[in-house]
Amino acid sequence: MSTVSARLDSPEGKNPPQPVPRLSLRENLVGLAEMRRDQLAFLVRSVRTHGDIFHMRLGGLPTVMVNHPDYLQHVLVDNHQNYDKDNFLYRATRTVLREGLIANKGGEPWRRHRRIMQPSFSRSSVADFTTNISDLTGDLLRQWEEPAGRGAVVEVTTEIANLALRIVLRALFGVDADDRGRRFERDFLEVNAIAGDFFRFPFPPLSWYSPSRNRLRQLIREMDGFIAYLIDARLARESEKPDLFTLLLNAMDEETGTGLTHEQLANEILAMIIAGYETSSNSISWIFYQLAAYPDIQRRVHDEVDSVLDGRVPTLDDLPRLTYTRMVIDETLRLFTPAWQTMRHAVDDDVIGGYRIPRGTDVYLNLFTFHRHPDFWPDPARFDPERFTPEEIARRPRHVYQPFGSGPRHCLGKHFALTELHIITAMLAQAFHITRPEGQAPVGFAPLITLHPKGGIHLRLHRR
Ligand code: HEM
Repeated sequence: MSTVSARLDSPEGKNPPQPVPRLSLRENLVGLAEMRRDQLAFLVRSVRTHGDIFHMRLGGLPTVMVNHPDYLQHVLVDNHQNYDKDNFLYRATRTVLREGLIANKGGEPWRRHRRIMQPSFSRSSVADFTTNISDLTGDLLRQWEEPAGRGAVVEVTTEIANLALRIVLRALFGVDADDRGRRFERDFLEVNAIAGDFFRFPFPPLSWYSPSRNRLRQLIREMDGFIAYLIDARLARESEKPDLFTLLLNAMDEETGTGLTHEQLANEILAMIIAGYETSSNSISWIFYQLAAYPDIQRRVHDEVDSVLDGRVPTLDDLPRLTYTRMVIDETLRLFTPAWQTMRHAVDDDVIGGYRIPRGTDVYLNLFTFHRHPDFWPDPARFDPERFTPEEIARRPRHVYQPFGSGPRHCLGKHFALTELHIITAMLAQAFHITRPEGQAPVGFAPLITLHPKGGIHLRLHRR
């Protein structure tokens, strides 16, 4: 256990809270340059050198980084009332997502919108989505038969992003994405890159007029145009059964008797689409990449889907028996956690693990470094699905693994996402054996607002 986390043992109240240890001016200056070159390397090294809680300048702005499960538990769960999203990371995200659920500052407006949307993500609603997921996945796998037959290399990341977008649009809003969907994906990828750059070096402000800021404004306008088109398309026809769109449209505040304004409706739809397709599509790309990298693991997944499904399309009832496939997914979400960073803002003075957190502090939580904490994950960089056997899970403290966050603002789409990842991985394994192209260099990380595979994942698909 590191010395910093050992401070948790000292009963608070007996020892007065200490100031959070600070990086030196020199370390911060070196860090500023390194952040721009390789943000992940800088963060991994900082955690190794400074332990589980320290004060640093992230992209030049003062932040306290916490990297211990007890500290994350404190901020996200036990004392969540004291931490909102009125911070640097989410202010930048709100430029794009406005007041939609994911970037909403918090408080009553967030609570009300979360309450409205919750029913669309219950287990029974997700069960209704599974046929959409398997139908759309089947379409993509059939398209891949042709390049597979030619032995061609396929860039899977873009195609998977399109699949994930179609799934979320059809499941939640009952609409199909055409070419406009592809344009929306390209726009958002560019937005994600501009926002990721801004997070590493927040100058000039996003509201300024410069080529990249003007481009950002144009991309946001285009994305808003796509949402307006979806709303019109959906209003133009009745849906057979209530979906998220119907819920949002009919949402009524019990106290005021008013519904969502048109702008609020558009913001929620945009936020839900981005939250729903971006992280899932990155996860699926990384899962495919890992299966191709580890032929023995891929063979075990093939054996499992063959014996459980016997050639059938997977249903929700099959998923609990696809246990090894799920372990591969869980381990991929540990090492390639797509929603890899988040931030909170301390509303009032607080103490974390014996350290003083003055009100107004931005607290940075990085799931990339957190899921590699050597005190909880032996040989943390090794990809090993065996970490997720029931025995291993029971052996670890509960909060050391949280790709979907925790506390009241945990991922609303967690069951949706896990069902989607499980079905798509199983169906891919039924159809194809996948390999990496010969001589391909390892794919690096592009740490945007979400964690992307740099340059995309390229694979060879072989019909089984
Ligand atoms: C593998 C896929 C996914 C991962 C790893 C993931 C991860 C996360 C994480 C870590 C958070 C919490 C962020 C924070 O505390 O600051 C979050 C929030 C959220 N996610 Fe996901 N997510 C995934 C897929 C989805 C899907 C498919 C949907 C919807 C269809 C979704 C909707 C949301 C929403 C609406 C929030 C904001 C909740 C709130 O603030 O109340 N996510 N997600």
